[in-house]
Parts: sequence; C-alpha cells; structure tokens
Amino acid sequence: MSSDPKARAAELRELLSRALAAYHVEDAPIMEDAVYDALFDELVAIEAEHPELVAADSPTRRVGGLSDKFQKVQHLEPMGSLEKVTTEEGLRKWDDDVRKRLGTDEQVAYVLEPKIDGLAVNLTYEDGILVRGSTRGDGVQGEDVSPNIRTIKAIPLRMNGEPPAVIEVRGEVYLPVSGFRELNERLAGTSQKLAPNPRNAAAGSLRQKNSAITADRPLSIWVYGAGHREGVEFETQFGMLDWLREHGFRTNPYAQRLESIEEVAAACVEWEKRRLELDYEIDGVVVKVDSLDQQRRLGVLHSRPRWARAYKWAPMTAVTRLLEIRIRVGRTGALNPWAIMEPVQVGGVTVTRATLHNEEDINRKGIRAGDDVIVQRAGDVIPQIVGPAGPHRRGTKEFRMPTHCPLCGTEIVKPEGEATHRCPNRACPSRGLETLINWTGVADIDGVGEQTIRILWEKGLVRSLPDLYRLTKEQLVELEGFAEISATAAIASIERSKDVAFSRVLLGLNIPSIGWVLARNLASHFGTVDRLIAATPEEVAEVEGFGADRAEDVVEWFADEQNCALVEELRGLGLRFESGEEERPAEGPLTGNTYVITGTLERFSREEATARLEALGAKVTGSVSAKTTGLVAGEEPGASKLTKAQRSEVPILGEADLLNLLGES
Ligand code: IVH
Repeated sequence: MSSDPKARAAELRELLSRALAAYHVEDAPIMEDAVYDALFDELVAIEAEHPELVAADSPTRRVGGLSDKFQKVQHLEPMGSLEKVTTEEGLRKWDDDVRKRLGTDEQVAYVLEPKIDGLAVNLTYEDGILVRGSTRGDGVQGEDVSPNIRTIKAIPLRMNGEPPAVIEVRGEVYLPVSGFRELNERLAGTSQKLAPNPRNAAAGSLRQKNSAITADRPLSIWVYGAGHREGVEFETQFGMLDWLREHGFRTNPYAQRLESIEEVAAACVEWEKRRLELDYEIDGVVVKVDSLDQQRRLGVLHSRPRWARAYKWAPMTAVTRLLEIRIRVGRTGALNPWAIMEPVQVGGVTVTRATLHNEEDINRKGIRAGDDVIVQRAGDVIPQIVGPAGPHRRGTKEFRMPTHCPLCGTEIVKPEGEATHRCPNRACPSRGLETLINWTGVADIDGVGEQTIRILWEKGLVRSLPDLYRLTKEQLVELEGFAEISATAAIASIERSKDVAFSRVLLGLNIPSIGWVLARNLASHFGTVDRLIAATPEEVAEVEGFGADRAEDVVEWFADEQNCALVEELRGLGLRFESGEEERPAEGPLTGNTYVITGTLERFSREEATARLEALGAKVTGSVSAKTTGLVAGEEPGASKLTKAQRSEVPILGEADLLNLLGES
C-alpha cells in the first residue's frame, strides 16, 4: 500500500474499477461488498482532501449531482435507425437484395444480436477515458447525459488495453425486468407515475435531472457497435464485438455469426420463443452483415443501413380498459379477484383476463374497474396488470372484497396477518366443486372431465370425493353425452383411480399450501396418513420444502374433524393412504443430485419427469437454491426460477439434457 496520496488514489481507482467491471461486466465478483465500500470511502476521503487528484475516471465520479438542462451535443458520426422486417419472408427478400448489390458470387455472413428494448446511447472515449455520454436524440444531435451515464457501473470510465485516440461506443441502456418490477413496486407506494414497461423506466431513469436518482436504478448496458473512431480499424462486426469485450465493454453473450440467411431465419424464430428466458426485454433481433467492407459497399438509405435489419415481434406490454373485477372462490376458500379487460394483443396473443392478487395489492397499485391499465406478459403465461396507465383515472370506486361469499352467502373472513380473504364455509359449493374438478386431473380419471363434474354437481349426484366413488354406471348413462360404453369406461376409470399413489391423494385433498412437490415430500417422509395425522408442527416443518407456516397449515388441516372423517371415508372406499414403492427414495446413479423442474416438457408431464428422476435416486424439489444440481426448463419456464438459477449459477437444462440424464438420448 502506498502512503503517497497521489499514488494511493491511483491504486484505489484501479482496484475499484476492476472490482466494478468484475461485478457488472464479467459477472464474476472479486471483492466483498464491504471491502469495496471501505476502499471507496478511502478514495472519497483522499479526494476530499486533495481535490486536484480527482480524475475523470475516478469511481467516485459515478455518484453524480444535479443538472438543470441537458446540453445538446452532435454525434461525431450519426446514429441511424433500423428498417424492420416481421417475417422470415422479409428476411429472405432482404438477403436477395444484399446479394444482388454485392454480386451473387460473394459469400455473405451475418451476425445476429438480441435487439435490446432500452434506449440507445453514444459513449465518447478519448485516449480511453469516457468524456461524454449522450442519448441518441434525433440521430444527429443527442442530449449530454454524462453525469447519469457515469452512474451506470457496467460502463467503464476508462477502457482496458491500448486505447484508440477517439471512439464512439454505441449500446443500449436497459433496466432488467426484475429491476423494473421492483421499481414499480416502490413507486406504487408514492404519488409518482408507474412506468408502463422497462424501456420507459430506463429512459426516465437516464433523463433524471438528479443523477442520484439514476444511480439508485439498476441500469445496465449491452454494447453493440462503434461510431466514429480514430486509431483503430475493424474488419467485421463480430470482430468489433470481440474488441469491445476485450476493452472492458459489456457485449451480449448471445451474439452469433451465421453463414446463411436460412440459419438466420431459424435463429430468429427460435429467439421469439426464448425471449422470456432473459432478464431483460428484447423486442426482436438485429441481423447485420458481418463484413464491414460489405457494409460500406451496401451503404445507407435515409439513415437506415442497407446492411442491417431488425426482425421484430409484438410487444409484451399493452394498455387496455379494465372492465370489471370479478371474484372466484378457490378450492381452499380463498377469494381470488381477477380482471376482465377489453381484448388486447400482448406478445402475440389476445388477452382478456388477468389474475389479480388480493384487495390490498389492487388498491396499492391503484387499479379500479373502468381504468385504462397496463397489461404485461412476462415470464408467466398468465398476464398481469402492472398498474393504471397514466394519471387520468376513469374508475370511480376503490375495490372492495365482498363481505359475504358470492356462492354460499357465508360471511367472509380475513385472518390476522394474511392478505387473502376466505369463505370459512367448508361446505361452500365452490370449494367442493373445485376440489372435484381438480381431483379428476390429480387422480388421472379419463372420461370424467370438468364438464361432467359440473353436471353431476348440479344434479346433486356428486357433492364430495366419496360421492364420486359411489357413482354408478346407471346414474351416468342418464346424463347427456354418456352411453353404455362411455359410462362403463368412466366408471372403470374412477375405480382405477383408487389406486393412485398416496402423494397424489394428499395433493387432491386440497390441504392449503400443498402443491405436488410438497405432497410427495410429505408422503415419502411420513409414509402413512396415520403418522402424518399424529405429527406435530415441528415434525412437519422438518420435511423438505416446509417452513413453520406451511407446517402449521398441514397440522391444522388434519386437526379438523371433518377432514379426518373425509380421510376415513376415502380409506374405507379403498383409496391409498400409505406410500408405495414409488414414494420411497431410490438409490441410483443420480443419488445426491437435486433438480427443479419448470415449464412444460414435451415428452413428459412434470410428475412423470419427477418420478423418472427419483427412480434414479435424484431428489426433485420445488424451488431453486444453491443446493440445486440443475434446473430443468421446458417451454414457458417460470421467470423467477430461471433468474434465481442464473444468479446462483445453477446449470439450466433443456429437455434434451433431461433425456440424457434419464439415459434416453
Ligand atoms: S445496431 C444504424 N444493434 O435499435 C443503427 N441496434 O432502430 C444500428 N438496438 O435505438 C443499430 N439492440 O439502439 C443495433 N444489437 C443492436 C441493438 C440495437 C437494440 C436499438 C438501437 C436503436 C434501434 C435501431
């Protein structure tokens, strides 16, 4: 360590810059937060005492101050925009045009990059030092937002390696989806307007007059090119990305070089499906001719390069009118509000409904029936309402849960400390009906679907699970849609379902907070329902996946006389309340490994995949942790599981990897 303040300041600048790059650019931290903070404070102290030592690339300059007005600045080279295509056909036509212009015997390779939905910035470096950061503006002139740009830790204040005399580095500043959600959660508690999407949030954050606010937003950047440069030459787009990465810039790891338009088209289609895997929004992919010489010869038309196209798809957020908030009483008596909206296109599908959480959440977000709202499809299939769109509300009344159950009229309760309103009536028709519908799926009863259950319910023939097992062929034949053969088959299928595994029976009983993973864990831990009934909350809490709250729910459920009577009745009818072979942990090649499954798999249901993995000795759990060996992700995977896996560096496996594990590839 140096005692000379000048040398020490330089040393600290270097150390802190390296630590920031390791954390924000390379995703490989080299320093504890506390150590960083201590070194940072030391540098602040030296600079306070020796203002002449404050350098342009000092990490302390990332904190920023106030600016009245952003100065206009001219880009050294204009920032163009992209012509878009929306079909594979459009891509092929463009490729034809490119080849015609270059001469048909010439090879053309393309680079494909995610099209980040943020805002374009121009970063000017002189002798390797960031001297200015500006917005794109009209493409010729932008606004100087340097103090705000400096707060973005993924942007180097000094580039690595041999710097060119001048270079304009171009990229897209964005807010990760998780950061966007957190920001809106925070803003919802204030009088400030919510951002409709991550791009608006990023733009708003970057144009803050107070850069302390910008510093507080988790903005990042993907760098994708260069404008004017002196003292460095590139031959290809892909080579330029390499160079930028080597010089300390955050370039997107998904950029790929492809040899033909057919490969490009296939990758574009693939990306539309994969976009949800990312923790940032992309509104398409950008396809660029790789060779810069070819780019020059192709030229630019009306500030849109002939050498690039944006392959775009539909946005993931939209604004529409919230028409009504309705209530559904769930299987556990929970009152679930949901929204009916004017139909709107979001991410390529028409959306009319969205789930809402609970009264508190609805009012905290300030959503009222009649309002224009922002709808979003993110990692989840089910759309969500982010909040009202804009400050002009049309809705007049704040949302209130009904005081009485819409189905049975029983007074609604809201247990202390819970956000959910419940109908306490265990005989509430909705509960029984939903349980039965759910059961047909859980117990794999073919030939008796939701429609039949509803009819049986209405006719009063089946009002409980035991009723279902007392149903006769004669009763079924009477129903519309059933004949002798189908009724016989349905009864046989109901009979067969008596043999479903104990864990499935547990799942079908609708014990609060028990999903299929927890049901399996309970079944294999206790082995029999009698042991489970006798268990204390502490004992249940020891089961994998349970905490005190969930354990309490389970014990409470089994302490209820009506529930115990139901168990006895079902046992008497021949259902299984003991674990079978399949629920005892097996020993095998995957013993010691733990997997989590998310999304829809093509070859298996999640239950099947679980059973197959467990048969080889693996454990399957419901949530990703540092102990997880791998996250198996199918179609439409859960965003939070993916993000968590990425953060904890848990490998993400596709269906092909799963088949491999199961020895089926
Ligand atoms: S290249 C001549 N590459 O899309 C323009 N742009 O209309 C060359 N964008 O706002 C732009 N990701 O900021 C390029 N990988 C990427 C991009 C990208 C996002 C934005 C860009 C601009 C818009 C172009």
